[in-house]
Order: sequence, then structure tokens, then C-alpha cells
Amino acid sequence: MSKTIIVSNRLPVKITEKDGEYVLNPSEGGLATGLGSIYRQGYNIWIGWPGLEVNEAYQPQIREQLTEMNLMPVYLTQEEINNYYEGFSNEILWPVFHYMSVYARYEQVYWDYYYQVNSKFRDVVLQVAEPGDVIWIHDYQLLLLPGMIRAEAPDVAIGYFQHIPFPSFELFRLIPWRAELLEGMLGADLLGFHTFDDSHHFLNAVTRLLPVNASANVVMANDRAVIAETFPMGIDNAKFEELSDDPEVLRQLESLKEAFGDTHMVLSIDRLDYSKGILQRLQAFELFLQLYPEYVEKVILYMIVVPSRDTVTQYKELRDAIDRLAGSINARFRTINWHPINYFYRSFPVETLAALYNFADIGLVTPMRDGMNLVSKEYVASRKHNNGVLILSEMAGASKELQDALIVNPNNIGAIARALHEALNMPLQEQTRRMKQMRQVVAKFNIAHWVKLFMARLQEVKQLQQSMLAR
Ligand code: F6P
Repeated sequence: MSKTIIVSNRLPVKITEKDGEYVLNPSEGGLATGLGSIYRQGYNIWIGWPGLEVNEAYQPQIREQLTEMNLMPVYLTQEEINNYYEGFSNEILWPVFHYMSVYARYEQVYWDYYYQVNSKFRDVVLQVAEPGDVIWIHDYQLLLLPGMIRAEAPDVAIGYFQHIPFPSFELFRLIPWRAELLEGMLGADLLGFHTFDDSHHFLNAVTRLLPVNASANVVMANDRAVIAETFPMGIDNAKFEELSDDPEVLRQLESLKEAFGDTHMVLSIDRLDYSKGILQRLQAFELFLQLYPEYVEKVILYMIVVPSRDTVTQYKELRDAIDRLAGSINARFRTINWHPINYFYRSFPVETLAALYNFADIGLVTPMRDGMNLVSKEYVASRKHNNGVLILSEMAGASKELQDALIVNPNNIGAIARALHEALNMPLQEQTRRMKQMRQVVAKFNIAHWVKLFMARLQEVKQLQQSMLAR
């Protein structure tokens, strides 16, 4: 019987190590939930890295525990983690794909390891893949994998989804290994992107850099039709709707009401990342307080930054810069009873996030560049009373769907400050009109819908290829 194999850099589990003991906890992320309906069934399986270097002596034992959860590990050495994950993935692909190419470091050794680790993933996939199987590969850490699998197993169905933006050709061409990356991607039958612009940029790069024929969204790669299409990813909407009525969330919501009373809350939640525009957002909040001093003591910015990739230099530097700027704004504007910014550098349980989404009058989501941005959708899904205002960057994929947000250019500090003022003064009726529209979109195009659509389309593409062969 054929099966589905999901492959991503990280497995949907968090493994932590303490004094040589490893503890496994299922991840609560949206992708893990969405794909749960697939990988937990029958012989289906999810292949990926457990997220840390596992001592060799413990590898068989962890493999066994993972097998019970339909998961299969790709173990990486510390050198591989440094050069493939932190190096090529996060110091080349991440900055270039987020239009921040000045941060890229094109080291040959990063490429060598990227190739090596993608081959390692291929070997693990080939241990389990059989003719007729469907393989769904996720994200930029594994761009070479579709091609590597295709070379060994020409008939399997391979889907690839890119969770981050695909940059314009002028950015993508900067990468020394650009042609190899595209050839790797073309090993897939169906390539999915969050927005039309991303898939268009991909197709443009392919036709400019490779000797292939393409028409509309179909590329002919070695006589095989490869299709690039848009699949905007959704969230587990039902989960956030249910959380809004969860007793623990309601208890935390009461505590927030007690702590902040009538103070308006502007909520900002991100992973630590220079693509998220955190410094510009702080500058915009500072400008807002300067332009509209009547809001002193009446508004707070509640800012959560979730630690991430903090072994990479630029991330460490960004963290220091956020500390300094948040501190200086607080020092400039604070009064005896009020701090303008409540800043947290840590992660919180989903119940706390849900309580904040429910409490905050404004969701402020202003990335410099973001594939989709699921926080904006989680905020909308949590607004069960249809009030509140979302301020959203036009550089986030989500802005293509959530058009009733106040859309801003994240580089325009003045525009963000004015949007904050507009949001705080928006009549309830207008808030409701906008929020209802956005809630309909988020509810309909949820994560289950996204998974179903992608899988169905992959099947159609396979059929299309067969009918082309028969002609
Ligand atoms: O947005 C892309 C992404 O890879 C997500 O899938 C992931 O949650 C996030 O970036 C953080 O990635 P990681 O911690 O695995 O580098």
C-alpha cells in the first residue's frame, strides 16, 4: 500500500536534553497540527532532524521512541548543524530570501555541508520510499532534496512547499549556487508558495537561469511537467476559537483585565529575527507617543520576542539592539505608574498567547518581509467579539488575504504611528465590519483546507504527467 512521507528540517517534536537524558514533547506548531492528519495515519511517516545533536549512544533509543510516533530521525553532527542549518540555511538562504542580502555570507563550506546534509536526508527517505509513495518536502533547508530523490526514484510523486518568500530574480541571482538550487527544486512535481508573487519570482528565476521551457506556471524539466502554484497557508482556526473559551485562557484574561484595566494594549509577538521589523516597530511606537502625547499612560505596547537562532551573530546583535531601544523608550516616556513597553524575551504557553490575543485592542504585525505570518491570523481567529484592529505589513504574505487590516509599509515609521492612532480611534462598527471579513477568510482557508488542497493538486499533477506521456 502506498504511503505519504513528510520531510522537513525539524521533526514536529521538541527534544530537550538534561544531564544526558532526552525528553520528547510533541510540538504545538500549526504545521505539526495540520500535517498530523497525515503522518499519524497507517504507514505514513515524518522524517526530520530532532533539533539538536544527539549523543550516539542514545540514538537507537530515541529512534525507537520516535518510530512509535510515526517519526524518523535524521541525526546531524554539530559541524553539520553549524554549516548546513546555521550556515547555508540561515546565513545565506534566509537573508537573501528575505531581501536582506547584506547579511549573507557565501562560504563554500556552507554549501558543501548543505549538499551533504541534503544527501543525508535523501538516504533516509530512500530507506522507506517505495514506488507509488507521495513525498511532501518542506522549506528552504531542503531545496536540493526533490532533485536528489528524483534521481534515484524517478516515479514517486514529490511535492515541495516553501514557507518563506521566494525573492525577486535580482536577489536570487546573487547566490553562487543559484542554478543548483533551482535544479534541486525542479525534482518536485508540484512546488507550492504562499503568494502569487513568490511563485512568479520562482518561475522567473527558472526561466532566466536554466535552459528549460516554461509556459505560464508549467516548467518542462527533462520532459516532466513541473507545476508552480500558490497555496496560502492557514492556521488551526478551530483551536484558537476554542481557546477563547478555555477556562485557563479566561482566567488569564481576567488577570490581564485586572492588571491593565482601561489601558489600551497593542500586541506584538514574533520570533527573534531581523526580518520581523522589531526595531522599526519600536521606533514607530516611540514616534506615536511623541506625536500623540494624549496617549501617555493610556496605551502600552506588549511585546513578546521568542528566542530563536541566537547562536547566529546577527540574531545576538539584534537582541542587544532591541534591549537598548526598548529600555531607552521606557526611560524617556515612563511615569511613576506606567511603562509604555512591556517587553518579554521568552516563549509563552499557547493559553497565555490566546489570552493576550483576546485582550489586545490592536495586533501590530509589521515584518520587513514574511512568507505568510501566522500571528496575524491567530489574532484574527481569537477575536470572537469581532472587535479589535489588525495593523499588518504589506510585506507579509498574509496581507494578500487579510485586506481589511490597516495595511502599512513597515519601513514607513510615520505611517505605522498614524495607523496606531487610526486604530485607537476606529469606531466599533468599522472594527466589526473589518474583523468579520477577516475572520471569515481565516476560518475558511484554515490549515486542514491547505493540506487537502495541496495533496489533491499533487495527485492531479501526477495524472496530468501520465496523460502527457500517453499522448
Ligand atoms: O518561517 C520559516 C520557519 O522555518 C518556520 O517553519 C519555523 O517555525 C521558523 O522559521 C523557525 O525556524 P527554525 O527555528 O527551525 O530555524
